[in-house]
Amino acid sequence: MSKHKILVTGGAGYIGSHTAILLIEAGYDIIIFDNFSNASKESIKRVETIVNKDIILIEGDIRNRNDLHNVFTHYCIDAVIHFAGLKAVGESVEKPLSYYDNNINGTIVLCEVMAEHNCKSIVFSSSATVYGDPHTTPIKENFPLSATNPYGRSKLFIEEMLHDLYISDSSWKIILLRYFNPVGAHISGTIGEDPNGIPNNLMPFIAQTAVGKLNCLSVFGDDYDTHDGTGVRDYIHVTDLADGHVKALDIIKDIKKVITVNLGTGTGYSVLDMVKAFEKASGKDVPYCIAPRRAGDIAKCFADPSYAKEVLNWEATKGIEEMCQDSWRWQSNNPNGYEG
Ligand code: NAD
Ligand code: UD1
Repeated sequence: MSKHKILVTGGAGYIGSHTAILLIEAGYDIIIFDNFSNASKESIKRVETIVNKDIILIEGDIRNRNDLHNVFTHYCIDAVIHFAGLKAVGESVEKPLSYYDNNINGTIVLCEVMAEHNCKSIVFSSSATVYGDPHTTPIKENFPLSATNPYGRSKLFIEEMLHDLYISDSSWKIILLRYFNPVGAHISGTIGEDPNGIPNNLMPFIAQTAVGKLNCLSVFGDDYDTHDGTGVRDYIHVTDLADGHVKALDIIKDIKKVITVNLGTGTGYSVLDMVKAFEKASGKDVPYCIAPRRAGDIAKCFADPSYAKEVLNWEATKGIEEMCQDSWRWQSNNPNGYEG
């Protein structure tokens, strides 16, 4: 049995790999557990280069009790940061059972194995999607919750499940982090977001258009009730988001209830604001055309991040310029992502 460790499920993915760096830099010993369904081992190699340290990497599936049991038997785990799951909204409508299985069933198996090994501290990746179509902005944690697709429902259900777990056994320490829109990349430009196929999300689509892989951005709707008619979101630099997890771990031992926190900047930018900022940061044109609204999209979504400041002593520090510059550095150095 070695030193106490933090288990990072889904740690090879976009947010997990950035969080791994900050955890190691903050002095935590980590183990990454991932089934590589949406990640590459190359991301971990590059994290190792950034932190100049070997990382314990376990290939396994959170739905597989034995895979998890082996990890908890071999290592003394203090807490789990739980990123592993599927995250594409459109795909979740086509393959709902796969989303419920990976996200909900996976979390159930994980929590059961944690309890068997008396590890009861978990930081869970939730999403601003649980607010559905908010009646007003900025969004506070106590706003009504709803979901319009299987992905969102899986997040909502896991939140409820974790609340029930705490009610059944108050020795659990549970922090639910509701991310707004993560963008950007590590400053080195060696790790970043590497979506499969044509990106669904705005920032990778803009970046791939700027680098010449895609011809033109479709702006989904210009008749929303926003300053320029295009959708407004709270984009947050992935390194700031990662830091929110370090801050969550710092307090988790002392919490006396389930803590639910928005991780956002509190500022909303429109699609066209992002296009302009990216053009400025990259020096490239981002051709776009106005297209119909995307089904399920809302006009405005941005956080009230004041509770995060109060409870985690966390706030976002990086603005839209750094988000675009860092995304561009990653995209231009790695036009084909980790495939090289
Ligand atoms: P990602 O796909 O890059 O990372 C998820 C990782 O989990 C991948 O490495 C994948 O291989 C792994 N994984 C998936 N299913 C697994 C399983 N059954 N067992 C083991 N590993 C598995 O996604 P991300 O953007 O880094 O998101 C991380 C978490 O944050 C997810 O839970 C996601 O739903 C949540 N989230 C993401 C966003 C976003 O916009 N990126 C927003 C809100 C919430
Ligand atoms: C998406 C997910 C949401 C998830 C969030 C954070 C959907 C429907 N929702 O939200 O569940 O929590 O990511 O990861 O996928 N846009 C364009 N053209 C594009 C792509 C996007 O105009 O090609 C616009 C959208 O209409 C929206 C904004 O850009 O106004 C941001 O879109 P996106 O990056 O997909 O994030 P969300 O829709 O906020």
